[in-house]
Amino acid sequence: MLVKVNKLSHSFGNHWVLKNLSFSVQEKEFVIVTGHSGAGKTTLLQLLHGVLPVQRGEAEIAGYKLNSLSQARLPCLRREIGVVFQDFKILGNKTVGENVALALEVRGKHKAQIQRRVNAVLRGVQMDHMRDVTCKNLSGGEQQRVAIARAIVVNPKILLADEPTGNLDNDLSLRLVQIFRKFNEHGTTVIMATHNKTIIEELACTQLIDLDKTRYTRS
Ligand SMILES: Nc1ncnc2c1ncn2[C@@H]1O[C@H](COP(=O)(O)OP(=O)(O)OP(=O)(O)O)[C@@H](O)[C@H]1O
Ligand SMILES: [Mg+2]
Repeated sequence: MLVKVNKLSHSFGNHWVLKNLSFSVQEKEFVIVTGHSGAGKTTLLQLLHGVLPVQRGEAEIAGYKLNSLSQARLPCLRREIGVVFQDFKILGNKTVGENVALALEVRGKHKAQIQRRVNAVLRGVQMDHMRDVTCKNLSGGEQQRVAIARAIVVNPKILLADEPTGNLDNDLSLRLVQIFRKFNEHGTTVIMATHNKTIIEELACTQLIDLDKTRYTRS
């Protein structure tokens, strides 16, 4: 099992966002997390990425128990996971190509290999023509595509994607989701948060976690 979540609850002050959520994800699954704005999709993905601490219940990802994970081991966990954050977190002063290359550079890949891989991934998200543009000059949708390219360039074992198509029109959204699908077919487990109904309908996911429908038992 790649992800195991057992009776996970999370609150901000006395506002409970997740309550007694349990699910598990096997290798190579394509999981969609949905629910209304404020349902806790981002919170759940942040818990799985170790950004937020587990308050109640248990969560495990890629063999790492998040309840007892030390700060020192967090970078090891993050090497296994590609993430597309809802707010992108790309570096505005660097170019498109530099942003995507960064994750490969820290892994010590060779320059020629990095260039090849960056170009291929940028072609996939239709951003190869903008490789040398500084990111702060990009539109929201373009930045989003850079964030997607950066997450998939390292071939992660697990891809966590938070509304990865939030700023894109429907056509481009579906095309990008097909890229995720291709990665998924090659073995990457994908957990994607979205409330895009077209995507939910068109994409044959293995599991749909609807945070609005999960029945919570009050603690
Ligand atoms: N740091 C925080 N402090 C206080 N409340 C927070 C914090 N982060 C999130 N919340 C609240 O928790 C709830 C869930 O937020 P979350 O971002 O997980 O929702 P979401 O399902 O991702 O929504 P969206 O579809 O709008 O992205 C919201 O009501 C939000 O206001
Ligand atoms: Mg969110």
